[in-house]
Formats: sequence, C-alpha cells, structure tokens
Amino acid sequence: METGKLEAGRVLFKALLEKEQFSDEEAAIRFENACSPAYWRKLNPQLNVCQSLSFDDFELNPSSTQDIKEMLGQLNREGYFSTSSPLIKGEIAAKMLLGVDNLRKAGWHEVWAFVYDEFWQVTRTLSMQKLLSGHLGNKYMALPHVVVHYVHPETGAGWTPHVDFSDREDRFTVWFSLSDATLDNGCIYIVAKNRVSSALLQKWLNMEDLKHREVKVLLQSTKALPVAAGSLLGWRGDVVHWGAISTKKTHPRVSLSVVYIKENTTPLPDELPLLQPECIPDFPMRMISIAKAVKYYNIHVLSLNKFDGIAKQLMDTFKEQNMNQMQ
Ligand SMILES: [Fe+2]
Repeated sequence: METGKLEAGRVLFKALLEKEQFSDEEAAIRFENACSPAYWRKLNPQLNVCQSLSFDDFELNPSSTQDIKEMLGQLNREGYFSTSSPLIKGEIAAKMLLGVDNLRKAGWHEVWAFVYDEFWQVTRTLSMQKLLSGHLGNKYMALPHVVVHYVHPETGAGWTPHVDFSDREDRFTVWFSLSDATLDNGCIYIVAKNRVSSALLQKWLNMEDLKHREVKVLLQSTKALPVAAGSLLGWRGDVVHWGAISTKKTHPRVSLSVVYIKENTTPLPDELPLLQPECIPDFPMRMISIAKAVKYYNIHVLSLNKFDGIAKQLMDTFKEQNMNQMQ
C-alpha cells in the first residue's frame, strides 16, 4: 500500500516536472540568449555585464577597523555576523531588485542574475574582503556556488531549518539582501553557536531525533535577523538557520548568497573551480556557476528543473572555453 502511494507520488511528480519543461524550440532560443552578453544587457540596462566596475563605488558605509573587529568577535563567539545597517548603496540594491523582477517577467529563474557584475561585487567589496580575510585567512577563496532566493509575499517561505554544510568544514556563507528582510516577509533566523551546547548541535548535524527539552532550548536560542536592503549577513557552514514564513501582504524578500572557503582547505570535486575572491569571474565562468547552481539546487528548488537541459549545454560549451583560457 505504502509502496503504491510512493510510486503514485513519483509518477505525479514526474508529470508535473514534464509539464513545466520548455519546448525544444524555446529551449534553443533561451540557450542562444543565455550565451549573449548583449541579450542580458538589453534585458536589464540598469545593470552591467563585464564592465570592470570599481569596488569603491559600491559601499554606502565602509566598515571601520572597529566595525570589522566587532563583527569578527561576533563570528568567533556566535558563528555569524551582521553588518546591522546597509553596507551597500540603496540605489545599487534597487537596481539589482529590478533586475530580478525583469528576469522573472522574461521567464528566467532568479539565479540567472549572476550574469550581472553587481551580483558578484556586493559580496566582494573592500570591507567584505577585510572581514572575510580576518576570519578565513588571507588566502581564502570563493566557491563557484551561487543562489538567489525569492520569497513570495504572504504565501512564500525561506528554506526550512538547516546547516549549509554538514559533511565538510571551513565553508562560510555570505548573504546579501536586495530588499528589506523583515519579520513579516521571511527574514533569516539563526541559532547562535554560543547559546546551545555543542552536544546538542552535534545531534542536529547527525539528524538525530531531539527530546522535548532540547527543542525548547533550540527555540529559545533563536535570533531573528531582520535587515534593511543593502545589508549583509554571514554564517559558518555548521550554524543552524532558516528563512521564516512570509505572513502578510508585503514586498517579496529577495536575497543572494555565495560561499567562501578557508585558506589552505582542500575543496571537494563538486566545489571546483575555486575563484579568486578579490575579483569577479569572466562571462564563461559566470555561465558555469549558473549551470552548477541549476544542477546543485534543483532538488530543493523545483522551478530550476526546467533549466536542466540549458544548464547542461552551457556547462559543455563554457567548460571547454574556460579550460582553453586557463591553458
Ligand atoms: Fe542556508
């Protein structure tokens, strides 16, 4: 009986995914467009594609030495940091937000926003480089993993409680808010590391069942992290966090995240190629990152599945170009 239900579920799921697929003709047009910087510039003229922008132009309030020291202290104690107020200029966050809207209207998933310079640069400004090198060492590197989160007003929700990396250490996620992330539209919640015992966190990482009193400790240790557009958060790979449910008619919560790896840490094969954190990838590498994101996250984000074929084509096309450039 149970097996029958499971099989029925699988068939229904497969049918739903197939219904969502692009026609061969549309997939071919989308692939051609995806490969064209001119297409992306026309879709979002307010954003840039490979324009070598200055990192200095992005920051509204560069972090002072004291700010960096306080954020590093919080990272060491609690496993996360928050810029508390916007680090990036509001006009840049607004242009990025419009960019995400235009992508959605044109039938692209939000992760395609990583074709634009701004989506790479907001996590690579001078203040962020100082903070990240302070925490991860001067030779820290970036993983090619990218993701854009879009929480629909009222009906949406962020990702359920999880840690980003339960099977590897020394990875660090940086999260940037394109819109105000509020208590009503699904801001991030976090369990600060110093509020619960390492034994309890280990039980979580092992996915063991928890006792009632342990759940009470976790719930009471939760911190909500509402932030204004242009702000950044970051957390260690073993920190429990989630995006809340959007509860009211409000604006969407839109954010992006990227992952960095501590210096002298050996990456796993699915984390290659590592990227230099002080510069932004060229166009072929952006295509590879987006294609990897489609493959990596499509189990969690079903709307990515229809881009599987296009992502595979991009990977085949640009992987070769990238290899040739590196030789
Ligand atoms: Fe996460």
